[in-house]
Amino acid sequence: MTAVDVYRITDQLDGDTLGVLETRLEARGRHPKFLHMMGEYLEGMGIDGAGSVLDVGCGTGVVARTVARRPGFRGRITGIDLSPSLIAAAHRLAKSEGIGDRIDFRAGDSQSLKLADAAFDAVIAHTLISHVDHPQAVLEELARVVKPGGMIGIFDGDYASITFGTDDPERGRAMDEAIIAAIVTNPRVMREMPHRLRDAGVDLVSSYSYVLAEVGAADFWKPGIQSFMKLLPKAGAATEAEAAAWAAEVLGRSDRGVFFGACNFYSYVARRRT
Ligand SMILES: C[S@@+](CC[C@H](N)C(=O)[O-])C[C@H]1O[C@@H](n2cnc3c(N)ncnc32)[C@H](O)[C@@H]1O
Repeated sequence: MTAVDVYRITDQLDGDTLGVLETRLEARGRHPKFLHMMGEYLEGMGIDGAGSVLDVGCGTGVVARTVARRPGFRGRITGIDLSPSLIAAAHRLAKSEGIGDRIDFRAGDSQSLKLADAAFDAVIAHTLISHVDHPQAVLEELARVVKPGGMIGIFDGDYASITFGTDDPERGRAMDEAIIAAIVTNPRVMREMPHRLRDAGVDLVSSYSYVLAEVGAADFWKPGIQSFMKLLPKAGAATEAEAAAWAAEVLGRSDRGVFFGACNFYSYVARRRT
């Protein structure tokens, strides 16, 4: 089966699939483990000192809203996403939290931003780089629109490492591969980031690494598994029956206390040269 990363084509998806993505992104964005990873690199960027922040591939606005809610942050945020539908959801969610006036959400392609040079104090790509056709084009755009001396934050999964324990290890490996094909375009891109950042003309300041592993019972991974069950058939990576059987098995393992699920995540904080 030839599969397609659904997150790369969010401007072409049906409402049902976009609804699955919206639910998934919002569940993930509320989880303490995810918020912890986000908080560490935002601190590393000194985000509270930024007067203007750009969040590319903002989806439903999880990062933009998190930054806007920070007690020490007084600036303005621009969020850009490929999907007009996710941008509409981001508007709605920010408004419902009373922070709509501090975030400007717009549809656009992060590989060619319609934004002026050196327009932002800080720029963020949070689980975007793994989804685009041209990661280097995104990094070059971020390096262009951030001010000299400004901070760049890149966070993503090292999705080549995503794995779930199953009764039959060979079938489990095949489903791990199907998940990677359905939800990601560049599963190894975070391993390439040290040289990609240098090639984009920015200096690495710090990096953070995580194994988001759950053993026994699933918590963070539960909504993820529920989304994979729906997204794999939409992406052409597995049949509905295969995806449903896999989800029932791994969630059943969680119910019985024998779940295993893991993926590595990395953040990079870099600074544009002055
Ligand atoms: C995994 S989601 C992450 C959303 C959000 N940053 C978060 O962490 O909740 C990836 C997002 O990248 C967006 N995206 C994919 N390709 C894009 C592109 N070329 N330009 C802008 N956004 C893009 C998708 O629409 C999707 O919202």
